[in-house]
Amino acid sequence: MFAGVPGSYDLLNRVFTFGFDQRWRRCAVEECLFDRPRRVLDLCSGTGDLAVMLSGSADPGASVVAADFSEPMLAVARAKAESAGVAGRIEFRVADAAALPFADGEFDAAGIAFGFRNLTWKNPGREKHLAEVRRVLAHGARFVVVETSRPPFSALRTGFDAWMAAAVAPLGGLISGQGGAYRYLARSARGFYRADEVDALLLGAGFRTVQHRLFLGGVAALHVAVR
Ligand SMILES: C[S@@+](CC[C@H](N)C(=O)[O-])C[C@H]1O[C@@H](n2cnc3c(N)ncnc32)[C@H](O)[C@@H]1O
Repeated sequence: MFAGVPGSYDLLNRVFTFGFDQRWRRCAVEECLFDRPRRVLDLCSGTGDLAVMLSGSADPGASVVAADFSEPMLAVARAKAESAGVAGRIEFRVADAAALPFADGEFDAAGIAFGFRNLTWKNPGREKHLAEVRRVLAHGARFVVVETSRPPFSALRTGFDAWMAAAVAPLGGLISGQGGAYRYLARSARGFYRADEVDALLLGAGFRTVQHRLFLGGVAALHVAVR
């Protein structure tokens, strides 16, 4: 599904979130780098926005790994890192979250931007994906999730769902030529868990603590879990 979207993916993210997606990623980067990690994982890195931001702000000796199972998405990420002058600081790895090719406790922090829904919502591999993230994190390391969420207020929820159904799904499909991918985005965002349910999922997966904050009334949320 993701192999066909990279060409228009970034543009559509900016348009459909009115540019807020990058601000939300920036907040995730601050949380990821809070303990000044030496090795950071950007899981489901896609076109690499989070990895590029991480590499630009991490300590000079720190390394960033951008992992995704879609080579076409990572190809865009590589080109982006080169234009940003940070390609040398990012290791790109084609990897499935269900079987991460990393050692136990290899990372001091991990982030995931808008990929957590893919790994967990109606996904039979959900437990495996969360177990793998936990496995590759060192004890005390942070796992930072920025993802669409379910606004607590019903009027906002209704507006969000209408935006997804009436704008994101049809226009995303039209512009990208990948109707299925954008119908999936709209459907999964409408059906996705509330922020407190995501917290419970992370605690259930063995993370010791989880906190979240909502963006724009809850259309998106940032979760910080500690291994
Ligand atoms: C919605 S995109 C998010 C991309 C990027 N993180 C961002 O901030 O825009 C989700 C990404 O997750 C990747 N993905 C989905 N399931 C995966 C899995 N099981 N293992 C690795 N990557 C996966 C897809 O290839 C896609 O690039």
